[in-house]
Amino acid sequence: MSGGRGQAPDGGPVAEGPRGFAAAFGHDAEAGADAPGRVNLLGEHTDYNDGFVLPTATPQRTRVDVSRWTGPGIRLHAAEYGTTVAFDLERAPPEHHARYVYGCLRELAALGVELPPLELHVRSSVPIGVGLSSSAALEVATLRALRRLLAIPLDDVEIARIAQRAEIAYAGVQCGIMDQMAASLADTGHMLFLDTRSLDRRLLPLPAGGAMLVLDSGQPRRLAESGYNTRRDECREAARRLGVASLRDVADPAAIEALPDPLRARARHVFAENARVLEAVRGADVARFGELMNASHASLRDDYQVSVPALDALVGLLQSHPDVHGARLTGAGFGGACVALCAPGREAAVANSVLVAYAALGHSGSQRVPEPVATSPGA
Ligand code: GLA
Repeated sequence: MSGGRGQAPDGGPVAEGPRGFAAAFGHDAEAGADAPGRVNLLGEHTDYNDGFVLPTATPQRTRVDVSRWTGPGIRLHAAEYGTTVAFDLERAPPEHHARYVYGCLRELAALGVELPPLELHVRSSVPIGVGLSSSAALEVATLRALRRLLAIPLDDVEIARIAQRAEIAYAGVQCGIMDQMAASLADTGHMLFLDTRSLDRRLLPLPAGGAMLVLDSGQPRRLAESGYNTRRDECREAARRLGVASLRDVADPAAIEALPDPLRARARHVFAENARVLEAVRGADVARFGELMNASHASLRDDYQVSVPALDALVGLLQSHPDVHGARLTGAGFGGACVALCAPGREAAVANSVLVAYAALGHSGSQRVPEPVATSPGA
């Protein structure tokens, strides 16, 4: 695996950012950068167990433009909300989105970076709150913009680590490092094979003959934070009882069967999920990759218990579609989005028929990746 310290391109689209900054603050931004969301293809709830993950970047990105100003404090304009909030480094702002930016600033300050009064403008096309890591995109874009403005010598891995610390400390989720590494190092043309213990990584081609489709179940991610932190505690306890530093180190799956439930079920998921990532990376064809995704969903539903009935229904409809190789929930679960690997060119047709069947079950879902092409009425 390569362990390069190069910087990923961070110029990118979402071009309205600089114009939006001028409209919000009456002068031009001094610097700007962006970062994508992520779709995890395989390797769910493995990152905080020191395991393996396989995310790719979303085409949607978050852009942050920034400038010094006369101050005092920080002013943050979020184009999606149409609001400007003001805060300083002493007190965390109540607004959820502002906390991610605040967390990044606090972490930079803790590293000794002298922060001047700042104005920041955020514009994002990453869907919010569906499990595509809009928060990591915001953190990484913020840190990249500040790296550029203040010439801070940080590489992309350091940016990911700072972003993860910001999320843990200021958003209250004991997250692993997958999302921030993906936002910092993944691109849309590859999957990022990441060893979350060593942070060794490799960009690999997406499964040949497969096209990615992401559908949002429309189910809000209830209990995501508390449920997530509980899973994390359960894994820690399972590892302790098995006498290993983390579940990644379990060598004999038979030992897992001696654990009491739910620790047994949680550990079984993590063990099998790591094996699925490694099998995919060794070279699964698209059909086998799809089977691994289906097995991942079953394990997340039955052993890890982070799915919800509506998400299971949507994944089931995708899995039984003839143009789909495999499908699973993506991200932390508890609601939110799922990802399918489809026959190339069939994404829109699959999305349409599956979403109609999903609506017939009384649910309202939507397509997120690729972004559906807007058609005029009657077209
Ligand atoms: C969230 C966390 C990640 C990871 C996934 C589950 O997205 O932020 O660190 O644990 O859930 O795989």
